Amino acid sequence: MSRADYADLTSHDAFVNGVPHDTFAALRREDPISWWDEEDGKGFWSITRYQDIFDINKDYKTFSSAQGVRLEEMDEEESEARRSMLETDPPEHTRLRHLVGRSFGPQVVATYEEAIRGIAVNLLEHAASHDEFDFVQNVSRPLPMRMLGRLLGVPDSDGQMLVELGDMMIANTDEDFTEHVVDQVDTEEWRLLPFRSPAALKVFEYAEEAAHERREHPTEDLINLLLSPDRHGERLSELEFKNFFALMVSAGNDTTRYTMTYAMKEIIDRPDLLDELRELDDAGWKMAIEEFLRWASVTMHFRRTALRDVEVQGKQIKAGDKLLLWFVSGNRDDDKFESPFELNLRRDPNPHMTFGKGGPHACLGMWLARMEVKVMLQEFVKRAATVEQTEPHAYLRSNFISGIKRLPISVEWR
Ligand code: HEM
Repeated sequence: MSRADYADLTSHDAFVNGVPHDTFAALRREDPISWWDEEDGKGFWSITRYQDIFDINKDYKTFSSAQGVRLEEMDEEESEARRSMLETDPPEHTRLRHLVGRSFGPQVVATYEEAIRGIAVNLLEHAASHDEFDFVQNVSRPLPMRMLGRLLGVPDSDGQMLVELGDMMIANTDEDFTEHVVDQVDTEEWRLLPFRSPAALKVFEYAEEAAHERREHPTEDLINLLLSPDRHGERLSELEFKNFFALMVSAGNDTTRYTMTYAMKEIIDRPDLLDELRELDDAGWKMAIEEFLRWASVTMHFRRTALRDVEVQGKQIKAGDKLLLWFVSGNRDDDKFESPFELNLRRDPNPHMTFGKGGPHACLGMWLARMEVKVMLQEFVKRAATVEQTEPHAYLRSNFISGIKRLPISVEWR
């Protein structure tokens, strides 16, 4: 494939028919560390091979997160105002991670299983009353936010509003989710807010109000924990709390949804999967979920910025250069995975990089995401005899998040 035939990775439109996997495969073969000019930025390196992504992600002293983790360039004022733990390096990152990490470990998340199952069953039973329904609107979109709402201690009735606000922020490149599409309208007015989105104002307001209530009447929920000092007397500042809240409403919202939706799309396209899933034991489910995560690879890239001149695989990276770690490409690298374009529910080992790999920022919500995808699929396969797609599906317009935003289906229930 020649350069002219590559999909334009700088363009959100290049992703509206799904991930341009051919381009990534060609890049891994022909130009694994390639330079891309940008119309509205200073350009970036695309890193597409598994091992290079892993090595760069690990070397956080050279490749920093503090200047931003998405392509958008921010000046210092913007960076400071919008900084969440994602946009920090150790040791600041270590402090923040320690403060919020307490509620996201595997043992804690195991105690949420029953609540997640309750939500999944409720949504599926409700969906079952329709002949046809959009799997995204009815199941995969509400589920993660309803659970996150329970953890945060906010009423179920606020879930829908938080989902919509979260989508306005993270899907800020798709007009189905926001009227302030960042590459199409002027968003200068909101440049100091997460995702340059006015929705962040509402999220901040909501977070402030929730914090105020907890200070008056302490509770047992995650918001309360986030506001409390740890055993060293450390606590989040007001801005750190608000940015973390906004991060959870965005990161904890759409990624799990799209992973479930990609899994459902595969179940539709490969009817044998329903039976295969139904027969899985615990170990089998564990493997299957890892494979769906690799397959979906929803956060396609994260960015780092070089802090010094450095040579990587013969390429001269300059201090200040942006590098995009294309996790979605690493997950299809045949140097690492046998037959990477085959969905193999028994793939073992499966060292996918869907949650990041090797570096300090590995996804905080990974155990929660795994549990939600597993429980929803378990409850679905228990109830469904067959499932068919009734209308075309649609992909999110984004070169950052890969997602199916609409998947109309009909299910014959058992
Ligand atoms: C399948 C679902 C998910 C995927 C694919 C995903 C992906 C990722 C990735 C790749 C990173 C690393 C970013 C980097 O390297 O700069 C990350 C970080 C993070 N994720 Fe997730 N995520 C998912 C679900 C969640 C959920 C459910 C939550 C919260 C409820 C969450 C919260 C976070 C946070 C707070 C970070 C920052 C961690 C840090 O900076 O140390 N994620 N996620």
